[in-house]
Amino acid sequence: MTPRILFLDHVGVLGGGELSLLDIARHFAAGSRVLLFEDGPFRDRLEAAGVVVEVVTAPASVSRVRRAGGTMQALRGLPGVLKLARAVARRARSYDLLYANSQKAFIVAALAGRWTRRPVVWHLRDLLDAAHFGNTQRRVVVGLANRWAACVLANSEATATAFVEAGGRAEIARVVHNGIAPEDFVEVDRAGVEALRDSLGLRGAPVVGVFSRLAAWKGQHVLLDALASLPEVHALLVGTALFEEEAYAAALRRRAEAPGLAGRVHFLGFRDDIPALLHLVDVVAHTSTAPEPFGRVVVEGMLAGRPVVATRAGGVLEIIDDGMTGLLLAPGDAGALARALHDLLASPEKARRIAAAGQAVALERFSLSRMLEQIERHIEEVLNAIK
Ligand code: UDP
Ligand code: GLC
Repeated sequence: MTPRILFLDHVGVLGGGELSLLDIARHFAAGSRVLLFEDGPFRDRLEAAGVVVEVVTAPASVSRVRRAGGTMQALRGLPGVLKLARAVARRARSYDLLYANSQKAFIVAALAGRWTRRPVVWHLRDLLDAAHFGNTQRRVVVGLANRWAACVLANSEATATAFVEAGGRAEIARVVHNGIAPEDFVEVDRAGVEALRDSLGLRGAPVVGVFSRLAAWKGQHVLLDALASLPEVHALLVGTALFEEEAYAAALRRRAEAPGLAGRVHFLGFRDDIPALLHLVDVVAHTSTAPEPFGRVVVEGMLAGRPVVATRAGGVLEIIDDGMTGLLLAPGDAGALARALHDLLASPEKARRIAAAGQAVALERFSLSRMLEQIERHIEEVLNAIK
């Protein structure tokens, strides 16, 4: 029987975690519901996919709690968390299991699950290390997980390891890499791609793309640095500042106006036509300066048959075999990025070989069906344990 799942996520925007949950919630849609703590485009995408969605808006004190925030900020958020947990608990009795897709959602789910005796699965999509989160936040979420999570699905070995290093119990952690629907990425309408290239004024130009929200740790500035020594190359920065990184985005825009770069950096904002844009570029660059928990864009670039140059850290090490299925570089090394881009643009044969090998690996190891099977199995295991 299909389990009835109450999915929880604290945001309404479309980050990688939300796009992944979209696939998962669609799969379990019968009898399930997604509860969001904020309205936004994620709601529309879920509804269009036939998923029942409800928005229970988080009190401002909860929305204000930040990744690096201290104990005081966390305490101020507590009454709001309890209020959300009560709202979730009122609904939880109609479901077999609570499935939290973000840290804030997990904190709320842990309390509601405890009160209503519903098992809680936490899909952990963040690397709980000091580069990304403050001590308070890590202590709180890991402590709750150890006591009250039936299982923690980590989006990579790197994420699972960081969870354990932060004090998490290894017995409850399971690695589930993101799976991505290949049909969206492998083949696209060629004429549409050419029209897109023309509309951006890029006919005949070598183009590199970064497909990530604009955020300091996503490292778009590293590509701008690299571009300075690649005078012919254009860059597409695809994505917007989703989580209050407007200052970084503004700094990038100013930087892109500098002599030597002006006219070669194209800010496309948030786009829904990622597959076509991937096919437009010659190389996909992943530039995160802190370890990437997983990195959907890396797999998507590979599926689209592009050579991918990525940062050697975090989950990316589980996706790319350096020199074979992509190229790996030290985080923040703009010189190495410039050399790798030059190399791939100057050696189309090499670029094609890497892209083809990357595509084969992405199709085999990161399919959506494989991820959904794994999640089904883990959910079944959790439900069997409480029978
Ligand atoms: N993405 C998108 N539109 C954009 C930029 C990115 O739909 O304008 C998607 C991208 O295709 C990928 C996701 O956002 O599926 C980003 O996921 P990733 O795991 O790479 O990073 P995250 O933002 O989750 O840290
Ligand atoms: C998070 C991570 C990203 C990962 C995504 C999907 O947003 O930052 O690396 O790919 O979740 O699990």
